[in-house]
Amino acid sequence: LRRGAAAPDLAGLRVVVSAGGTREAVDPVRFLGNHSSGKQGYALARTAAARGADVTLVAANAALPDPAGVRVVPVTSAVELAAAVEAERAGADVIVMSAAVADFRPATSVASKIKKSGGAPAPIELVENPDVLAGLVASRGRDGADQVIVGFAAETDDVVANGRAKLARKGCDLLVVNQVGGGRAFGTEDNQAVVLGADGSAVEIPRGPKEDLADRVWDLVRDRLPR
Ligand code: CTP
Ligand code: CA
Repeated sequence: LRRGAAAPDLAGLRVVVSAGGTREAVDPVRFLGNHSSGKQGYALARTAAARGADVTLVAANAALPDPAGVRVVPVTSAVELAAAVEAERAGADVIVMSAAVADFRPATSVASKIKKSGGAPAPIELVENPDVLAGLVASRGRDGADQVIVGFAAETDDVVANGRAKLARKGCDLLVVNQVGGGRAFGTEDNQAVVLGADGSAVEIPRGPKEDLADRVWDLVRDRLPR
């Protein structure tokens, strides 16, 4: 399927896509963040809408325009993202977690700006954030929800082996694994991935526009929808 000429093959589907990168407040002016641009998630939302799906985009801090025909729910932190995805979960047929969710947040959110006061800076204590993807998998089947659940991973070194282990650990249906390092993935226009399936499948998606990767992901999702 090519962009622009897409058949409405996802018509009638409710999909939720998370995109961007969460920010964890250190104080009122600082945060812990990551390099996710949100472009791949926005491409997923755009292509799903173009193929007829009813799309909700849970958007974390991406400096990108709202895609046409997509409902956008803005969030900042991982805890906010978790709440937004949970609120959208019940009626969804497909959930794609492309957001880079911070694993940890500062244990205390300081109300006043941290000042240089002479002497050594105080360490920032961290606590673990909820694992949204694992939570979705755990709650699948509740409220009649039988979603196709897709995760993303950015890996270095042995990308496929790391991806397989992560897929098994997370329990989702598909894991889109990007290789990072060497200028790949973060903020670039192109992407390249291998999509691992819980059924043992591995589909290589050659380097190309993020829209093309998004379309291939939706093809693989479509093949896994209950009919
Ligand atoms: N994810 C999530 N909630 C988190 C962390 C990650 O939902 N708190 C999701 C991401 O959106 C992604 C998938 O889990 O779809 C994999 O994220 P990743 O960071 O690669 O996995 P982790 O289990 O956090 O493992 P790692 O220690 O490699 O970061
Ligand atoms: Ca992580």
